Amino acid sequence: MSTIKYLTEYFKPTHYDLDLTIDKKNRYFGGTVTMAGNAKADEVHLHAKDLTIKSVRTNLSDQPTWRTDGDQLIIKGRLKTVTVEYEGKFSETAMNGLYLCKYKRDGVDKELFATQFESSYAREAFPCIDEPAAKATFDIKITTNDPDDKVVLSNMPGHREGNTWIFDTTPKMSTYLVAFVGGDLISQSTTTKNGVKINAYATSAQQPEALDYAVEVAKSSVEFYEDYFGVKYPLPKLDNVALPDFSAGAMENWGLITYRETALLNYPSAAKSDRETIATVIAHEIAHQWFGDLVTMKWWNDLWLNESFASVMENFTVDKLYPEYHVWDSFNYGDVHAALSRDSLSGVQSVRQDVTSPEEIATLFDGAIVYAKGERLLKMAKAYTGEEAFRAGLNSYFKAHAYGNTTADDLWYELGKASGKDVKGLIDPWLNRPGYPVVTIERQDDKVTLTQHEFHTDGSADSGRTWPIPLFSNRHELPEVLDERSITVKIPSSGKIELNVGNNAHFITQYDKVSLDQLQRDLGHATAIDQVKLIEESLLLSRAGLTTISPLVHLLVNVHSSDNRITVQKISSALGSLASLTDINSAEETHLKQYTRNLFGDEFHQLFLSGKKLTLDEERMQGCVLSNSTWGENPEALKYCDDMYNQHRSDLAQISGDIRVSVLSSIVKRGDDTVFDELWQKYLAETNPDLRLDIGSALTSTKNVEKAKFILAQVLEAKNIKPQDSLYFVAWLLYRKQPDIHSLAWQWIRDNWNWIEEVFGGDMSYTDYIRIAGSGLHTDAELVEFDQFFNSKAEAVCSLKRAVTTSHNSIVGRLQWIKTNKPVLQKLLSEE
Ligand code: BES
Ligand code: ZN
Repeated sequence: MSTIKYLTEYFKPTHYDLDLTIDKKNRYFGGTVTMAGNAKADEVHLHAKDLTIKSVRTNLSDQPTWRTDGDQLIIKGRLKTVTVEYEGKFSETAMNGLYLCKYKRDGVDKELFATQFESSYAREAFPCIDEPAAKATFDIKITTNDPDDKVVLSNMPGHREGNTWIFDTTPKMSTYLVAFVGGDLISQSTTTKNGVKINAYATSAQQPEALDYAVEVAKSSVEFYEDYFGVKYPLPKLDNVALPDFSAGAMENWGLITYRETALLNYPSAAKSDRETIATVIAHEIAHQWFGDLVTMKWWNDLWLNESFASVMENFTVDKLYPEYHVWDSFNYGDVHAALSRDSLSGVQSVRQDVTSPEEIATLFDGAIVYAKGERLLKMAKAYTGEEAFRAGLNSYFKAHAYGNTTADDLWYELGKASGKDVKGLIDPWLNRPGYPVVTIERQDDKVTLTQHEFHTDGSADSGRTWPIPLFSNRHELPEVLDERSITVKIPSSGKIELNVGNNAHFITQYDKVSLDQLQRDLGHATAIDQVKLIEESLLLSRAGLTTISPLVHLLVNVHSSDNRITVQKISSALGSLASLTDINSAEETHLKQYTRNLFGDEFHQLFLSGKKLTLDEERMQGCVLSNSTWGENPEALKYCDDMYNQHRSDLAQISGDIRVSVLSSIVKRGDDTVFDELWQKYLAETNPDLRLDIGSALTSTKNVEKAKFILAQVLEAKNIKPQDSLYFVAWLLYRKQPDIHSLAWQWIRDNWNWIEEVFGGDMSYTDYIRIAGSGLHTDAELVEFDQFFNSKAEAVCSLKRAVTTSHNSIVGRLQWIKTNKPVLQKLLSEE
C-alpha cells in the first residue's frame, strides 16, 4: 500500500463544524466548514470534489495561499484550523454525495434531500479528509428554505431554530458515515429497553403502518447486539429512513441508516419472503453500527471486514429473532450459489483486495465475493473457534478498538487469543486469493483417495495451488483439514462418505459413483441444505466439464418429492438451467415443459387446490411452484392465474404478494396490448413500492417487442422507471428466452453505455451492467460482440477490467457447457 499518500499524513482532523444551507429549488447547496486538527506537514490537503471554493481562512491567515488539484484543495501553512466557504450544485440524476430524491404524493411532485457518502462521496458535499482513518467529531447545522422540509435528520438528535436544524456533537467517526436527510417525512417510533430511541421514516406518500415491522426489527436487533457484543449502542437514537431514490440496498450511516423503500417498508399484502429480506437488511446495517461505525477498517482493502462480518451477523441475528424464516436455508440457496458461481471464474477478485483509487474502491463491493464468500469464510472461522470463543474475541475487539480503526490482523489477534487457535493461519489462504477447490473422491476396494484441484467453470488451467480445506466429513478416518494435494485412507468399501456436511466450507466435492449413489438413495432424509448442496455441486461439475448434466437430471428425479422450500426452489433453478439448453418452441422445450408440469403437479395441487392450511415455508414456495406450473402449461395453473387476476383486477394488492409476480407475469405473457397498457397505468399510479416493482417485473414478460422497446425507452427517460430500478428492468428483458427481446436488451446496453456511465459510474451497481451481460449472453456471436464492445472500455477505465474479464470468462464457460450438454439433454428427454 506504499503507493497511497494518505491525506492524514498532512493533517489529522479532530473536529468539524459544518454549517450547510440547502436550496433545492435553485439546485444549490453551500456553506462553511471549519476543521480543527493536528498539522503533520507544511500544507494541508483536503478532499473536495465538484465544489466551488469561495474563500479559505486559517488560524494563521485570513488569506492563505491555496489551490485546487483534481479532487484536492491544498492550503499552505502548518495549521491548527482551516475554514472553507464553498458552494455545490445538485445534479439531476446522481444518487451519491448530497442528492435529491423524487416522489409523488397525490399526483404532486415532491423532493427530499439525502446523502450517500460511502465510499468516497463526502468530498462532494463538503471539503474534508475523506478517509476512513481520519476520524473526528462533527457539529452539523442545516438550514433549508423549503417549508416542505418538515423533518431534517442527521447522525445525532437535533433541534430546530427557525429554518435551521442544529445537531448534537457526534462521537469520533469517519466521513463516509456522516449523513443528513430532509423532507416531508412520516414516522413511527419505539424505545429499546436501554433507552435508545428507534425511529423509522418514509415519505408522506407512504402509510405509517408500513413502518411498524421495521421499528420492531430495529429495536430487537439493537437489543440483541448490545447483549451479544457486550457493548452498548453508543448513540442516543437510531433512525431508519426509506428513500424513494437509492442506489444500493441500504447504508449504515451511524445513527441514520438509509434504505431503498423496498428494503424497509412492509405492507400487509407483501410476500412473506419480504419480511425475511427486510429483517436481514436491517440486522445487517445495525451490525455495522458496531462493526464498521464504532470500529472501522483503516483502509478500503479491509472493506470485506465490514461487509463479510455484517453479512454473517445479519443471518445469525435474524435466525435468533425469527427462527421460522429459516434464514440459513435461504443463505445456502442464494448467497452460497452466488459465491460458488462467481468464484469459479478466473480473473475474479479475492475477498481481501488491495485498492488505491476511488473508482476502484467503488468496484470492490462484489456481492458474491465480499459479501457471500467473505461470509462463508467468517462462518468457517466461527465453526473453527466455536461460538463462545468467537463471541469473547469480538467483545475484546470492540473494547480494544472502539472509536478507532483496525485491519484484519486485529480481528485475528482477538479471535486467536480467545480460542487459542491459529485463526489467521486457517483463513488467510482463503481470504487473500480468489477461487476454491474441488475435492475428488476415488475408491478402490477399501482404499479411498481424496485429491484437491483448483476449480474453474471457464476452462482455465489449474494453477497448481492447494488450500487448507476443513473437510467437515462424516468419517472419523478422514482428517479434519486436508492441506495436501492428495491423501489415501482406508474406509470400508460399503461405508458412506459425505464431505462438507452442513455446507459450511467453501469447496465442492466430486464423488465416485458408489458414494454418489449412496447419497442419492438417502437424499430424502438429508437436510434441505445438504439436498441443495448436492444439486448445486452437480450443476457446477457439469459447468466445469467434469461431468455432463446427466447426473443432475437423475438427481432431480430422485429429490423431486421434497417439501423443503429451498430444495423446491433449487430444483426450479436447475430446471431453468436445463431450459436454457432448449430452443424456444422446440420439441425439446415442449418435452421439458411436460416434465416440469409433472414434477410440480403434486405440489401445485397441495399448495393451491387442496385447501389445506399452509406453513410459512409452503406459502413462500407458492410463487416458485406456480411459475413452474404455468411455464409447464398446467391448465389448472393457468386457470388459477386467470381467475385470480379477473377477481382482483381493480385492486392488485388483494393478490397475495407470494404469488403476485407469477400471476401477473402469466397474464401479461398470454395477454394482448390492452392488458399491458392497463398494467402500465397501474404501475404509474402505484405508491406501494413492492407492488409497483411486482407489476414492473410482470410487464417485462410481454411477448410484444414494441412493448419491450417501450419499457427500455422508459428506463432511459428515467422518470416513470427510476434509475434505482433500471438494472432490474434491463436484466429481466435480457434474460428473456424470446430471442428478439433478449437481443433488444443487449443492443440497448451497448447503445446506451454513455448514459449508464453517466448515471451509475463510480456506483456500486455500475459493473452490474457488465455482469448481467456476462450471465445473460449465450451465443458465439454474442461473445464476439461482448469483446468488441467491452474490451476497449476495460482498457480505458481500469476499474471495469475485472468485471469485463470475469464476464467474458463466464460466457466462454456457458458456450462450452451448451455445446456439450444440448445433445445430452435431447437424448435424455427422448428416453423419458
Ligand atoms: N455499506 C453498504 C452499502 C454500500 C455499499 C454503500 C457500497 C456504498 C457502496 C451496506 O452496508 C450494504 O452492505 N448494503 C447492502 C445490503 C445488505 C443487506 C447486504 C446493499 O446495499 O446491497
Ligand atoms: Zn454492509
